[in-house]
Amino acid sequence: MSARNLSSFSSNSLDPRTRPSRIATLGILAIMLLLAVNFCSGVAVWWGQTMQAEQLQTPSWLRPTLVLHGCMFPVQCILFGILLAHHIRVGWRLRANLLSGFATEFIFAGLILTGAGLYYVGAEEWRDRVVWAHRLLGLLLPLALAVHIAMGLRWGKQAASQVG
Ligand code: HEM
Ligand code: HEM
Repeated sequence: MSARNLSSFSSNSLDPRTRPSRIATLGILAIMLLLAVNFCSGVAVWWGQTMQAEQLQTPSWLRPTLVLHGCMFPVQCILFGILLAHHIRVGWRLRANLLSGFATEFIFAGLILTGAGLYYVGAEEWRDRVVWAHRLLGLLLPLALAVHIAMGLRWGKQAASQVG
């Protein structure tokens, strides 16, 4: 391939009307399911910890729920990598749905980083901050994702109806 062909191949040749960044239905279901498992187990752990602090008794389900939540960690990292490799890369090249996309990505990445921090941050004061940052990001994730999907669908409709 000549240098000229190579440069035109690597330029932005995506057609927004074909919606190349769209995620397949099965992929959307998988993303929703995985994030829902983390959200529900995370909220349950938070609730269990609050009960534990108030009643000075550990609910029997707290430990298995935290184990489930923690075991999802590598799965969420893989999901993040898959999204980066296709959906986010193509969305970036299209310059489409950027604001809500990056908000969602930032929150997701923040959850992964603070999640890793929960394993390794030892100092009590710092651990408290990391736990609160993790909980807040966790609550923001479904909101950001809902806005992102709604805006993505709107962008998709506009792109599909473009003439030319
Ligand atoms: C971790 C972060 C992200 C997640 C979980 C995510 C997930 C989704 C989901 C589930 C949809 C709706 C289904 C679809 O239409 O494909 C969507 C739409 C979309 N997203 Fe994202 N997204 C993320 C980040 C981004 C970023 C950073 C960008 C831009 C660079 C982006 C660009 C788009 C576009 C353009 C659409 C509309 C696609 C279409 O319907 O044709 N997304 N996203
Ligand atoms: C992509 C999403 C998420 C990832 C990757 C993630 C990751 C992690 C990891 C690795 C831990 C440490 C587990 C352990 O100590 O065994 C953790 C703990 C925790 N997560 Fe998440 N999490 C996510 C979402 C959420 C959500 C949505 C919430 C709730 C709103 C949440 C609340 C918690 C709580 C309360 C803990 C226990 C903190 C402590 O040790 O005191 N997480 N998370």
